[in-house]
Amino acid sequence: MKTRITELFGIEHPIIQGGMHYVGFAELAAAVSNAGGLGIITGLTQKTPELLAREIARCREMTDKPFGVNLTFLPTFATPPYPEYIQATIEGGVKAVETAGRNPEPYLPQLKSAGIRVIHKCTSVRHSLKAEAIGCDAVSVDGFECGGHPGEDDVPNFILLPRAAETLKIPFVASGGMADGRSLVAALALGADGMNMGTRFIATREAPVHQRVKQAIVDASELDTRLVMRGLRNTERVLLNDGVRRLMDIEREKGADLKIEDIYEQVAGIYPKVMIDGDVEAGAWSCGMVAGLIHDVPTVRELIDRIMAEADALILQRLAGLVRA
Ligand SMILES: Cc1cc2nc3c(=O)[nH]c(=O)nc-3n(C[C@H](O)[C@H](O)[C@H](O)COP(=O)(O)O)c2cc1C
Repeated sequence: MKTRITELFGIEHPIIQGGMHYVGFAELAAAVSNAGGLGIITGLTQKTPELLAREIARCREMTDKPFGVNLTFLPTFATPPYPEYIQATIEGGVKAVETAGRNPEPYLPQLKSAGIRVIHKCTSVRHSLKAEAIGCDAVSVDGFECGGHPGEDDVPNFILLPRAAETLKIPFVASGGMADGRSLVAALALGADGMNMGTRFIATREAPVHQRVKQAIVDASELDTRLVMRGLRNTERVLLNDGVRRLMDIEREKGADLKIEDIYEQVAGIYPKVMIDGDVEAGAWSCGMVAGLIHDVPTVRELIDRIMAEADALILQRLAGLVRA
């Protein structure tokens, strides 16, 4: 399948693995790239720019295909040294960066002058247009369904993607709720040039996370995620668990007075506990509604090959068969 996204990133299939905190290590990024997609290392999971440089080098040992680095600009308890993370990315020879969170404009000159292709992840048409205007090469349009931060507009992909298609000139991928060949074909039909997946890639053999995390995703249905931190305008879609129930109790108690400090225990430092130790009840960790469509833990290659075979069959047989000659 050839789309503007496969052309832009020099990849075989129009499938991107979105940056994921404590999941997007070299093992997963390399597996996705080796299977023909675009794997992405999560920059800020590496505690220093030096560690990111090492992670990029590790990934390079595992694949000779293109891969990218995610840089997330979200409110954190301490601002990371972004220019140094970017420098490590440039020196590692990486040619694709996924930005997310705040407007990446301050960092674009540094990225673009190194020949890096920037795909900005946004949750609205407004922000997608802004990304286009400031010179991003592509956007990843993240619908309300998505795991992680869906923004505050709550527009699902059935509306958001065609709105993006009628407005944007640069290529874009559909993100949020994507799991299989049906998702890919639907995304293409709605005007996207490919798809980005987060949650689906966690439930793969190569994802370097605890087995209990993969099982929790397989066990979850589409009803098992919750939105937290809405009161802080930092909404996150997470898998419901004991820690999240406590967090929601605190949110109810504090109401409009809620401060990030009130929920520190349920949101700070949770990822290593969940992803490495397998304590899936520890607190808030991102997970998409798409968990309801995830029933197995295949290898990344099996997953991507299956998606592409399903997509081909859907287009060539089911859909073509519906059209009268
Ligand atoms: C566990 C987890 C961690 C994530 N961490 C990040 C992150 O650090 N930065 C980022 O830009 N997006 C992050 N995301 C969002 C994904 O990159 C992707 O946009 C999202 O998962 C797409 O929705 P889906 O889960 O329905 O596929 C995360 C998602 C998950 C599930």
